[in-house]
Amino acid sequence: MDKIIIANWKMNLSLAEAKSLCSRIMDHHKNFKAKIAVAPPLVYIAYLAELFPELILASQNLSSVSSEFGAFTGEISAKMLRKINVNYAIIGHSERRKNFAEINSEIQEKAKNALEARIVPIICVGEDIEIKNQEKIFEFLESQILACVPKTEKAVILAYEPVWAIGSGFSPSPEDLEKIIHKIANIISKVAKNYQIVYGGSVDGQKARLFSRLKRLDGFLVGGASLNFDEFIEIVKAYA
Ligand code: PGA
Repeated sequence: MDKIIIANWKMNLSLAEAKSLCSRIMDHHKNFKAKIAVAPPLVYIAYLAELFPELILASQNLSSVSSEFGAFTGEISAKMLRKINVNYAIIGHSERRKNFAEINSEIQEKAKNALEARIVPIICVGEDIEIKNQEKIFEFLESQILACVPKTEKAVILAYEPVWAIGSGFSPSPEDLEKIIHKIANIISKVAKNYQIVYGGSVDGQKARLFSRLKRLDGFLVGGASLNFDEFIEIVKAYA
């Protein structure tokens, strides 16, 4: 399966900046081996989907409500997103868990809705600094993954994003990351057969080159560095 690099823009960029970054990505994406998916602020997504029909789009969230339409003010359903050509959805990002009190059961509902709508969920998991300091990473990941990933034959992406690594400049050593990915693969294979594992947390070009050598890692979920074309392309080039 293709390696995948997902640009998580979070709540950043003006519409004009978003358009210009997508247009630069579309000018270059054929030069690279890895698949590139862009997760813009949701308000831009339909516009970008129309403007760039070949751009692979991910939503940064979707509703835990399973119906396509209904009286749910402020919500956006998986089926609505799929109909405008959104193929992936970031689900359960640690910023949503922390700032919007999302819990595992809700994340699993969202992942189910994505799968039902033929959207590949990118389910985010990862320990915070306390769990890491207590050396309880494996136990923590096991319970988090089994509570969030629905049992499925369909494709899912598991994003390992240690909370302490997001936006901090820090990340695990390649040796530690390799061990964790091995463990994650064992856990997720209990519920899903068709999975990919990506890493997220302060990824830049240099780290991407280092981590791209890890056998079982299938790509990256990139925050800060995805907002700048040159920095982002350095990451994409890791899989050249
Ligand atoms: P970062 O963010 O690359 O800025 O650390 C990653 C993420 O939050 O997905």
